[in-house]
Amino acid sequence: MQRSKMEIVLLTPANTTDALFRQIVAIEENCGLFTYPPEVLWECIAVGDTYALMDGGTVAGFITLDKDATDYFGLSLHIVNINVTAAYRRQGLASRMLRVCCGYYTESHAGLMVTLDVEKTNTPARRLYEKLGFTVSDLPSENGENDLVMTVPLEQLIL
Ligand SMILES: CC(C)(COP(=O)(O)OP(=O)(O)OC[C@H]1O[C@@H](n2cnc3c(N)ncnc32)[C@H](O)[C@@H]1OP(=O)(O)O)[C@@H](O)C(=O)NCCC(=O)NCCS
Repeated sequence: MQRSKMEIVLLTPANTTDALFRQIVAIEENCGLFTYPPEVLWECIAVGDTYALMDGGTVAGFITLDKDATDYFGLSLHIVNINVTAAYRRQGLASRMLRVCCGYYTESHAGLMVTLDVEKTNTPARRLYEKLGFTVSDLPSENGENDLVMTVPLEQLIL
């Protein structure tokens, strides 16, 4: 597999075909965690906050950001969802999506934090975020006591 040939695409209602959306839904349903229902996944696409990493016609992974998040720190760039298809894991793809997609917001969100909620027991995700420089915050998660809030300054993430 040639990772360099994969491209990150902003999903919109216009370019998200039924076949593509079915892949997004299937990845979400197979992630082994709390899953967002298809209508919420579609809403995230409709507001222009979801990017897919495409390997030709195959979705290798996707990420949803909330650029208007105000749950933590007043305003932050919040990672709502990130998923990599099982067959594509451990190839640096989640790291690439996080760095590249957050990088799109360097001007609009200069000086702000990138935030996310992660289940305490989700070791793969916690390791991923730690490797990228996120640290555990003492803020309580809006998702309840099973989750942690992790944060990193935007400028540090996209270095
Ligand atoms: C978490 C997830 C997004 C990681 O995607 P990925 O593309 O495999 O991640 P990367 O290849 O960029 O991993 C970067 C680093 O994260 C850590 N990591 C990733 N998966 C790991 C695992 N299963 N076990 C331990 N560490 C892991 C490693 O340090 C890895 O670096 P290395 O491969 O050089 O050791 C993916 O496993 C996934 O989609 N999981 C289900 C959905 C999910 O948990 N989303 C996060 C919700 S908060």
